[in-house]
Amino acid sequence: AARVKLAPSLLSCDFTQLGAELNRIVTADYVHVDVMDGLFVPNISFGFPILAAARRASPLFMDVHLMIERPERYLREFAEAGADGMTVHVEATPHIHRAVGMIHELGKRAGVSLNPGTPLEAVRPVLSDVDLVLVMSVNPGFGGQKFIPQSVERIRTVRRWLDELGSAAELEVDGGVTPQNARLLADAGATVLVAGSSVFGPQGPEVGLARLREALA
Ligand code: DX5
Ligand code: ZN
Repeated sequence: AARVKLAPSLLSCDFTQLGAELNRIVTADYVHVDVMDGLFVPNISFGFPILAAARRASPLFMDVHLMIERPERYLREFAEAGADGMTVHVEATPHIHRAVGMIHELGKRAGVSLNPGTPLEAVRPVLSDVDLVLVMSVNPGFGGQKFIPQSVERIRTVRRWLDELGSAAELEVDGGVTPQNARLLADAGATVLVAGSSVFGPQGPEVGLARLREALA
């Protein structure tokens, strides 16, 4: 199988050192940018200015995870602030197909995501349209939560659906990813692992990334 991509979540970094933190993860593949609006999820993180600052400070792919209601309203601004890819939740809009189309019209990679409690069938109608499927393995809103074990079977199912379609879309998993479960997730068919607290831990992000790479080797 191809090399699994790592996407450190900025949510767990030290925001007083944003540029330095980004410099410490240059060996990663994506920068995962968690945007929360206090409505779709019970937390508020950050928005355009922080994304724009991260964009200026890093050459990496900006993988923007929009945990916001009606993301259509803000796709253009996130694109202009430096997103390379934008992922929208099926639960956040009655028009997921339109939202995916809007992301493509902006010239960006389009992702679709779903919460652990949402039936997988909800993403099926747009599977052939997206560049990435993000399977949440915690209820979104906070870093540092425990991985929900049923997520492994959900990843396997989406993997099978993508393969049946002949889709080259990335299959990303987000929430509670650690060196202990990384290999299992890759074997289930994930191609991108998001990791917040297990990268930006007490030993620092270089060690955090190295531990994940070792687990995948
Ligand atoms: C959860 C966010 C995640 C989170 C991951 O709402 O979407 O990206 O930051 O953090 P960890 O890896 O600590 O679970
Ligand atoms: Zn996320």
